[in-house]
Amino acid sequence: MTFRTAFRPVRRALLVALCAAGIAPPALPGARAGEGAARPGSAPAPVPRGDVRRGAGVFISKACARCHAIWGHGGEIGPDLGRTRAGGLTDSELAAAMWNHVPRMWGKMQEEGIPHAIISEGEMADLFAYLSFVRALDEPGNPDVGRQLLQEKRCGQCHAVGDLGGTAAPDLRRWARYRNPAVWAKLMFDHAPRMVEEMNRRKIPVPTLEPRELVQIVSYIRSLSPSGEAELLEPGDPAEGGKIFQRRRCVQCHSVRGKGGKVGPDLGRRGWVASFTGVAIAEWKHAAGMRAAMAAYGIEVPMLTSQEMAHVIVYLFSVSYADDPGSPRRGAEIFREKGCAACHEKGGGPSLERYRGRATPATLAQALWMHGPTMLERMRDLGIRWPALHGEEMRDLVAALNAPEKISLEAKKEP
Ligand code: HEC
Ligand code: HEC
Ligand code: HEC
Ligand code: HEC
Repeated sequence: MTFRTAFRPVRRALLVALCAAGIAPPALPGARAGEGAARPGSAPAPVPRGDVRRGAGVFISKACARCHAIWGHGGEIGPDLGRTRAGGLTDSELAAAMWNHVPRMWGKMQEEGIPHAIISEGEMADLFAYLSFVRALDEPGNPDVGRQLLQEKRCGQCHAVGDLGGTAAPDLRRWARYRNPAVWAKLMFDHAPRMVEEMNRRKIPVPTLEPRELVQIVSYIRSLSPSGEAELLEPGDPAEGGKIFQRRRCVQCHSVRGKGGKVGPDLGRRGWVASFTGVAIAEWKHAAGMRAAMAAYGIEVPMLTSQEMAHVIVYLFSVSYADDPGSPRRGAEIFREKGCAACHEKGGGPSLERYRGRATPATLAQALWMHGPTMLERMRDLGIRWPALHGEEMRDLVAALNAPEKISLEAKKEP
């Protein structure tokens, strides 16, 4: 298969993946404004912030998609990156996964005749943003299963949906054009209390809903959209989400990693939610308790737009999958134990001074991508095995490279 024939379907598939998530597709190729490589002698360039849509473009233009699929769309040589998330990865874990797989990945690139693409720091930041976004998405559901669930969960007893039909509640078909899970999170948040009231009145037991079940239901409702037309949202922006979380007073009741109110659960705790649809379900389950708390504290129920909800969800994701702070001292030990120091402090590799203050998992992944083949060759010459790194080790290495000054292990050992 030549590059050109492989490229087109892959591009389409990835756009489908983005649209399935209800966000507008990327401008290709993933061009970045204000891209600055650090020039020797100049002040360090700011660490770039990633952008989900540009990242989707980079994933295609740098040939990742020729080997990696997202939910079955794309290459089959490497693992499907939509399906390997195992509960979600932090950036350090993602950088460590790339680090560990790199020797095999390059072997495959040589076998397949795929050239080693240049990836800038900004592009790697975009790729990280894109891959973490993908990790938070739910694999698309099956409309037939969704239709069956609508019946089992008795939604159709009140709502008209396609050929199922109650008349007591709004026709859900009008939501068919909305694909972003944030829209469903908003709907569930706004309507759950009245819905539950209505269920109690009609003596219909309140159904349990799992995230996967809502994904299936939504996929059925989407399939009712006449021409497959879709309303797309901007992918959420975590910084904007953080501001909304303050402004809409969520923070008065919820803390995020210990900071904030204690009335509701901490929404920054690791792994409390596994996907965007998971947030919709959490809000559905807790709607009554949350409204009661709001009434008790005299806080008006916040009505978020779908776009605001998208920002908040992405913010909550970014905090609950954020790395814990690393230990620079432990990082310095790892630098020695894994053999990095043997080359990088003794002239066998370049000084890593330029990373001070600007090392992140993404900048290290970029360095790895660009310098790894030479580094791997040097290790092979010296009979050193490619050192495997855990996510936590990567996190501590980043902290050590970032430390305001070089950590001397000898000095600290003296009492
Ligand atoms: C020539 C094929 C090929 C290309 C191109 C390629 N990869 Fe890979 N990738 C692989 C293979 C094969 C593995 C699994 C290696 C192993 O098992 O050790 C892998 C593993 C990974 C992993 C670890 C996955 C996991 O679940 O642990 C990540 C992350 C990854 N690649 C990201 C990328 C990104 C980002 C790009 C583009 C910049 C890319 N890959 C380009 C073949 C490729
Ligand atoms: C007992 C009747 C009843 C059942 C059963 C029911 N709903 Fe509702 N639903 C309502 C009512 C009433 C409203 C309007 C609530 C309001 O105005 O706040 C509503 C509103 C909604 C909305 C917002 C619709 C809009 O157009 O604004 C969604 C989405 C929704 N329900 C989904 C579901 C799902 C999914 C199920 C099945 C798991 C379900 N409902 C089961 C009565 C019901
Ligand atoms: C007046 C206090 C209060 C405010 C304000 C508030 N919440 Fe809550 N929230 C709660 C309580 C209490 C619960 C737990 C309810 C229960 O368990 O029944 C909760 C639960 C949740 C959950 C489910 C958490 C989980 O662990 O599953 C989410 C998500 C959530 N709130 C989001 C928000 C967002 C977003 C805002 C701002 C728009 C907000 N909350 C504002 C009190 C509040
Ligand atoms: C066998 C010697 C050797 C070992 C061991 C080694 N490296 Fe390297 N490293 C190199 C060489 C040589 C380069 C420059 C490659 C090039 O010029 O493309 C390099 C480049 C780098 C760069 C990019 C430097 C830049 O200027 O941007 C980083 C970051 C890096 N290594 C980190 C590490 C870490 C972390 C470890 C340990 C886990 C490690 N290296 C182990 C030899 C080594």
